[in-house]
Amino acid sequence: MNSELVSYIDWFRSSTAYINAHRGKTFVVLLSGEALLDDNFANIVYDLSLLRSLGVKLVLIHGARPQITQALDKADIGSRYYQNLRITDIASLESIVETVGALGIGIEARFSMGLAHSPMSGADIRICRGNFVTARPVGIYHGIDFHYTGKVRKIASEAIKKQLEQNNIVLLSNLGYSTTGEVFNLSAEEVATETAIALGADKFILFIPGSGVLNQQAELVASISKADAETFIQNNVDTKTEEIRTTCQALAAAVKAFDGNVHRSHLISYKENGALLQELFTRDGNGSLLSADNFEQLRSADNDDIAGILKLIKPLEQAGSLVARSRELLESEIANFKVIELENSIVACAALYALDEHSAEVACIAIHSEYQKRGFGERLLTDLEIKARQSGLNKLFVLTTVASHWFLEKGFSESGPEELPQKKQQLYNYQRNSKVFVKSL
Ligand SMILES: CC(C)(COP(=O)(O)OP(=O)(O)OC[C@H]1O[C@@H](n2cnc3c(N)ncnc32)[C@H](O)[C@@H]1OP(=O)(O)O)[C@@H](O)C(=O)NCCC(=O)NCCS
Repeated sequence: MNSELVSYIDWFRSSTAYINAHRGKTFVVLLSGEALLDDNFANIVYDLSLLRSLGVKLVLIHGARPQITQALDKADIGSRYYQNLRITDIASLESIVETVGALGIGIEARFSMGLAHSPMSGADIRICRGNFVTARPVGIYHGIDFHYTGKVRKIASEAIKKQLEQNNIVLLSNLGYSTTGEVFNLSAEEVATETAIALGADKFILFIPGSGVLNQQAELVASISKADAETFIQNNVDTKTEEIRTTCQALAAAVKAFDGNVHRSHLISYKENGALLQELFTRDGNGSLLSADNFEQLRSADNDDIAGILKLIKPLEQAGSLVARSRELLESEIANFKVIELENSIVACAALYALDEHSAEVACIAIHSEYQKRGFGERLLTDLEIKARQSGLNKLFVLTTVASHWFLEKGFSESGPEELPQKKQQLYNYQRNSKVFVKSL
């Protein structure tokens, strides 16, 4: 047997566990209007058909943003937005209904294409559309009437489940219907998120242009906690990059779904052939998964964490890298601490102490020796910087004896004890001879 065939057989066998795990599960999939336009969309249709053939229950939600913009431009109506939300007047609505209707038919056609010699050969896929989404108007906001721009009021989850039981794929769009018989233009992200929550989906899959969430070294983050997703969104609120903006939007939907008890959301590239299959059927994946399982969580500390923090910092206190803290002191200051928890133990901590109305001190930053060089220190520091900025502070100090270069690399510059606010200067321990660093926020 040639080696290519051997590796194919190995791969096929190794995917069995995933095939069994996914069978009978409900996946809600968001396909943006941009994803529908991409050259790779035909492959995504094949891969979704494959999932259906393997017994996955699929609900697809498609958007239509670029197609609507193009149709409105063509009809000389143009697009009007207020705070990034499209205003849908009656003239726009007509074009939007036409555009979204045509996209739905196009998607049905693609799933019907059982051509011989194609991956769809033999797949008998049924798609079902209907009035599963009840909407209500956004209304008048800051004096602006949004007319037929709406919000999701209810998802007919029981009716959707009946279709899924019959092995049909359910296709929803960014349109919803009101109880008064009107059509409303909704955000596809909102429809998808609310559908995932209403169905209690096992997975929420969001197709994005990039390969997933990237860290500062532009490496793919394979798994991300909810807290880190929120930090990523906060850090990129002002981004001008379309790809990051879309990633943040998808992450925000995943975070909302998480709060609604949908605990596994995958961000996957719509441009990369096979990314969906790789993410779902291989151990390494190819995308970013926001989930609650076994991943580290960055959060504020509480009294239950005191024992864990003491255990973490004790060896560093003994080595003289950190100032000693008693249990009583820690109890009174616990609100200043952030921790990273991994599999029920505290593996990292850091604290922020306000010094005066403009500045604060970063202190007690400690990463368990087995977990250093994983970016935990940087994540804690970034989180404290956000907290300080949100409290209206503009300067961060740190006193260190052993980590000068680490702080220099994080944008701090060397200062001196005389630069510290008066109160802190009086407490400065000259014997310890710590170096003082400062960073403007
Ligand atoms: C310093 C510390 C907070 C860094 O945390 P971390 O999670 O390991 O750091 P990150 O993963 O964000 O960054 C790792 C990088 O920092 C470097 N680094 C780690 N400690 C350093 C130090 N003391 N000085 C200079 N660079 C350091 C690592 O070599 C690595 O760089 P590399 O990837 O180029 O090799 C951590 O090592 C620690 O807890 N040290 C012991 C306690 C301590 O000294 N605290 C500071 C008291 S103020």
